Amino acid sequence: MSLLTVRKYGDPILRETCQPMNEISDSVRNLIDDMVKTMYEYRGVGLSAPQVGVKKRVVVVDAGRELIALVNPEILSKEGREVALEGCLSIPDVQVDVERAAKIIVEGLDREGKHVKLALDGLAARAIQHEVDHLNGILIIDYLSFVKRQLIKKKLSAIGSQQSA
Ligand code: NI
Repeated sequence: MSLLTVRKYGDPILRETCQPMNEISDSVRNLIDDMVKTMYEYRGVGLSAPQVGVKKRVVVVDAGRELIALVNPEILSKEGREVALEGCLSIPDVQVDVERAAKIIVEGLDREGKHVKLALDGLAARAIQHEVDHLNGILIIDYLSFVKRQLIKKKLSAIGSQQSA
């Protein structure tokens, strides 16, 4: 297993829409294992493939109860609303209040290519919604009001310039 480099805000891949995987090959399993290792190393609650430079629909989440790895995740239903602060490994030192569904049902393929359907709540539900956003090029800062976004503009451009340096 290898530790992957986490792409930071300003990297164009974070704004792209990721492609579904057609099959779960050994290379996908290796990607999942490397993503899990990277998520734990940086103490993230979740990680998506585009954050490690891969434009594919793969996410991993560990909200403390169980490790979830999903390929081609689809959120089938959402229930309730909850606002909480979120961070993102791609946007260091920025936290944003994000309203998410409190409970979700998500389906996808697991590491072995088996179809799974999970009912999640709490942090796991929040983290899956955050990671699925990444697969569609959406970042937590997109949930900020215009005014709040102006307030962290300097911080964001600092992250962006580190990226290109
Ligand atoms: Ni993130």
